[in-house]
Amino acid sequence: STIYRRGTLGQRPTVPTDPDALEAAAVDVLSERARAYVVGGAGSGATMRANREAFDRWQVVPRMLHGNTARDLSTEVLGTNLTAPVMVAPVGAADLVAPGSDVAIARGAAAAGTPYIFSTQGCCPMEETARAMGDVPWWYQLYWSVDEPLVDSLIGRAEAAGAKALVVTLDTTMLGWRTQDLDLGSLPFTQGMGVAQYTSDPRFMEIVRERISAAGDEPSPLAGTRGVGRVVAAASGARTLLSQARRHPGGTRDNLRSAEPQAAVETFLDIYSNPGLSWAHIETLRDRTRIPLLLKGILHPDDAQRAFDLGVDGIIVSNHGGRQVDRSVASLDALVAIRERIGREPTVLLDSGVRSGADVFVALALGADACLIGRPHIYGLALDGSNGVRDVLDNVIAELDLTMGLAGAATIDDITREAFLITTR
Ligand code: FNR
Repeated sequence: STIYRRGTLGQRPTVPTDPDALEAAAVDVLSERARAYVVGGAGSGATMRANREAFDRWQVVPRMLHGNTARDLSTEVLGTNLTAPVMVAPVGAADLVAPGSDVAIARGAAAAGTPYIFSTQGCCPMEETARAMGDVPWWYQLYWSVDEPLVDSLIGRAEAAGAKALVVTLDTTMLGWRTQDLDLGSLPFTQGMGVAQYTSDPRFMEIVRERISAAGDEPSPLAGTRGVGRVVAAASGARTLLSQARRHPGGTRDNLRSAEPQAAVETFLDIYSNPGLSWAHIETLRDRTRIPLLLKGILHPDDAQRAFDLGVDGIIVSNHGGRQVDRSVASLDALVAIRERIGREPTVLLDSGVRSGADVFVALALGADACLIGRPHIYGLALDGSNGVRDVLDNVIAELDLTMGLAGAATIDDITREAFLITTR
């Protein structure tokens, strides 16, 4: 109600409440590279459009005279208490938008009481981001490295720092065909962004040092072993890495010595993911961590079924915001098909195209237990730092609350397809 009153008393918010205006305002302040990387999608952009069109095919039918004045938006997902069924999606390399990005996002998320999923390609060491969350819970998102000891090291750090669940992202074993980044000749990772989780990792730095000594004591240890473009990219990445390191005295800098930044970027490019990731890897996970496990990027009902058969605790239905496979199925359509297969019981979250509280309402009615907010929180970060992140999340939650009040749902469990939705498809 505070937001509503402010908005109707002639006070203009720093962060627009209209999702399209929010994106437009952020586009105005982002650098060309950040715009390509954050706003852009894979290929022709068809998946991003499909994500939105899927929401447009469902309509809410509000119920009148329900008499409820109190609403309870709280819910629980795999032992994590949520004040509203909303979480902050993992986003890598966000320093392209604002330096110290992960800590700023954490502060904003914590101020909104919203759990945040830290990316393996974050720009701040996870221990530092965790401190900025205070008492608000957070989860850790893993990109599975080809180096198995590194996988264990990252999981171990996340558990030690207090992660309440582990999310393994499946859909990015290779980077998608990102036309906007490609046409700018600019991929953030080759420029040293999103490497902080690695350079703050003892196992990763062990690999870097092994590589340096194997290459001899030359000033540019890995130069000549790869294409010139890659070495140049790694060199510029090393500069970014050093400037990031200066901002994280407790974390990254201590782990970087003179010859290491360039070797670190090169090593990162070689081992951050495993293009051969398979169900056999996932089978090993249960024995490698005590915290709940979720798989992110599931779209096919067979994959969803298999995940639960293997004993994972939850899945996140996602097409990575349309950034991986062009002409992929819309995330919301995949959710419907998956719920038809696996029933209502297993834990299923959704992201990709969620822009408003009304979107969250529709996703919940179609069986999502909670939604992740992706690009919009980055737009908030671009416009007003942690306050911008907080405002974006507050707005989504406030609109969900209002939608529930106007449509006649008192609790999250009340929001069902039978009660509220019709489809125009
Ligand atoms: C992402 N996403 C992502 N996902 C992940 O598991 N690890 C990551 O490091 C990243 N990095 C990343 C960077 C940027 C700039 C964006 C926009 C997205 C995907 C993210 O978690 C989420 O799935 C999508 O953003 C959801 O789609 P919308 O809400 O952006 O449409």
